[in-house]
Order: sequence, then structure tokens, then C-alpha cells
Amino acid sequence: MIVSGVRLSSYWMGHYVKDVVFGLILAVWVIILIAIFDIDVPGAWLLIILAAFSMPPSLYTFSFMFDKADNSGSIISFYLFIFAFLGPIAVFVLQLIPSTRSVAKPLKWICSLVCPQFAVVSGIISISFREFFGFIEPADGDCGTACDRSKPESFDERVAQVPLIVLLAGIGYWWLVVAFIDSGFWKMCARVPNASKATDQEGVDEDIINEEKHVEAAAVEQYPIRIYGAKKNFSSFNKCSFEKIEAVKRVSFGLQYGECFALLGVSGAGKTTMFKMITGEIMPSEGQMSIIGNNVLAGTGLMNARKYIGYCPQFDCLYPVLTVREHLELYASLKGVVQRLRESIIMKLMVDMGILEYEHVQS
Ligand SMILES: Nc1ncnc2c1ncn2[C@@H]1O[C@H](COP(=O)(O)OP(=O)(O)OP(=O)(O)O)[C@@H](O)[C@H]1O
Ligand SMILES: [Mg+2]
Repeated sequence: MIVSGVRLSSYWMGHYVKDVVFGLILAVWVIILIAIFDIDVPGAWLLIILAAFSMPPSLYTFSFMFDKADNSGSIISFYLFIFAFLGPIAVFVLQLIPSTRSVAKPLKWICSLVCPQFAVVSGIISISFREFFGFIEPADGDCGTACDRSKPESFDERVAQVPLIVLLAGIGYWWLVVAFIDSGFWKMCARVPNASKATDQEGVDEDIINEEKHVEAAAVEQYPIRIYGAKKNFSSFNKCSFEKIEAVKRVSFGLQYGECFALLGVSGAGKTTMFKMITGEIMPSEGQMSIIGNNVLAGTGLMNARKYIGYCPQFDCLYPVLTVREHLELYASLKGVVQRLRESIIMKLMVDMGILEYEHVQS
């Protein structure tokens, strides 16, 4: 959707509003259960509500780590098992033992900062057992038997103050992390090596060599789409070792306005990888790529280039609940086609493609 023209802010806000609404429904259920069973966790409702706001952006950061959904579910479950289950129990125990208390405090900060789930669980555990904190860390310090060992407040410094602060701040700082990763600005720092000189040209068709020479000699502005020496290597974990996969070996081409160009190849030849590189979804290992003079491998260049891209990906390009007309209206609005021209363009496209009879059929 982002490559197709949705603004980053609209894309993420759409997800956020939906996830917060679901999170709040769940939070209200938990709060009702706490009230029904009369569990002694005063103030826990605030942590639970804050978690509904700060957890979604923290989980969005995972979306940048996985290309495929295959293993992501089990890896995230493992992460939550460590941070949201074992971690809070371990830190709570460390807090109770005098000799490890100094380690527990920084650990609580670090784990809460990297995982809001940790913050909410450890906060609720601390609130439930807050009489322990009154006992092991009396309010007026090292005062022997005369000190105040009464139950501290829920958000006392010794109890759930850290989770409260982190969950509140998390709403902001997790969004900064998502914005930083997704904005493409980091690509300004990521250096993609320039295309290496073609060395081994043996067995390569002459027209391919000629095209590469043409593109190499051409200025960036000469071709609306200019790809030179693009390579992409993946490393894949297989049989206890990392193996290098050369998905795209060395591709160069220049396209002029009005040209209809197709990439053909057997399954696994690297077509999708090539399109992912051109649209800025992944970075090449080596090469040069520009669209209308904008360097796709640089943050601002990519953002400008995307204004000119219409992209139909291999998977997930259609929405089952939308009709043919609704799809065309959606993409027309995303690409900024003015309202008065939309109807005629949509009609023309449906007629040209022979799909007018399916206008109101869901995809
Ligand atoms: N994220 C990835 N990690 C590791 N290897 C990958 C990744 N993406 C693609 N590959 C590998 O790169 C090679 C090229 O894949 P790609 O999907 O680009 O091929 P394709 O030409 O689009 O194939 P198809 O016609 O089946 O769609 C394949 O060997 C594939 O397994
Ligand atoms: Mg493909």
C-alpha cells in the first residue's frame, strides 16, 4: 500500500486505530474480571489501558524483521514468553533478594523499555505483592525495627512506578522507532556499493552486454527507469549453517517513456526480488537504481520516486471484500486522480480490460 501511494502516516494510523480499539475492548474485559473477582490490584487498570496504546507500535517494529509470515508467529511467541512471562517473575524475585536488588532495578527499566508487555505484567505483579516492598524496602530507609513498613501505594517508586512511566512514554517513543525505520531516512546512512565492473561476461548474450554498456554510459536523467548492475544476495539458514543465495546476479536495463517491458524467468529467477528492489521494499546488495532521476537507494530519492510508481505485487494486491469498481476507486484516490476525472478513467479502464460486467463483483 505504501508503494502504491498511501502516506506513511495514514497507513500506520489506520492500523493503530483498529489495534487500539481491539486492545481497549480486551482491556475493559480484564478490568471487569478484576472487579468481579475483587482482586487486590489497585491502579492496575491504568497500566492495562496504557498497554492498549503502547503495545501496538512496539509490535509494529517486528513487521520490519520478517519477510514471510512462516516463522514470525513462533518467534514472537517465544519473545513474549521470555519477556512477558519469565522476565517479570525473574525480576520480581531478584528484587526480593537484598544481594540482587541493585541488579533488578536497572533490569526492570531495560526490559520495560524494550517490551511494554514486560512493563504491564511486572507492574501488575508488583502491585499484587506490594506489601513485600514495604517490608524489604521501608519508606524511611535503613531504620531498623522503628521504620514504616506499611503497604506502599501502587505507583510508589518501589512498586509500579517504572512500568507506569515506561508505558506512558512508550506511546511516543515506539512511534518514533517505527517512523525512523519506515521513513527511509536510515537509507541515507545505509551504503549500497556501486555496481562493480562486469568481469565474467562469458556465456552472457551479446544484447545483454550491449544493454549494460548503454546504461552504464547513460546519465541518470536519460532513462526514466535506469537500473545498472543490480545484485541481491540473501543469506539463508540451512542445515546449521548460513548459505548465500544469489537472488539477482547482475541486471542492467534502461526504459524509455511508453515502453512496455516484462521480466521473464523461471520460478526463483529473481523477478519479484528485482521489483522489490526497484520499489524500495528491500535494498540491493550492489548497483544503481533511479526512477525519473530519483535515486531509489536514498531516503528522499525513494520518497520522490514512489510518487511515480504504480505497483501490483505478486501477492496481496486485491481485497476480497472490495468490488472491481471499488478497487479502481481506491487506487485512483491513492494516486491522486482528481475527482472529476475519476469516473471517466475508471469506466475506460473497465471497458479496455473487458471487465465491465464484473464491475460490482467482489474480488
Ligand atoms: N527473503 C528471502 N530470503 C532468502 N531467500 C530469498 C528471499 N526472497 C527470495 N529469496 C530467494 O531468491 C530467489 C529469487 O526469488 P524470487 O521470489 O525473486 O523469484 P521469482 O522469479 O519471483 O519466482 P516466482 O516466479 O516463483 O515468483 C529464490 O531462490 C528465493 O528462494
Ligand atoms: Mg515472484
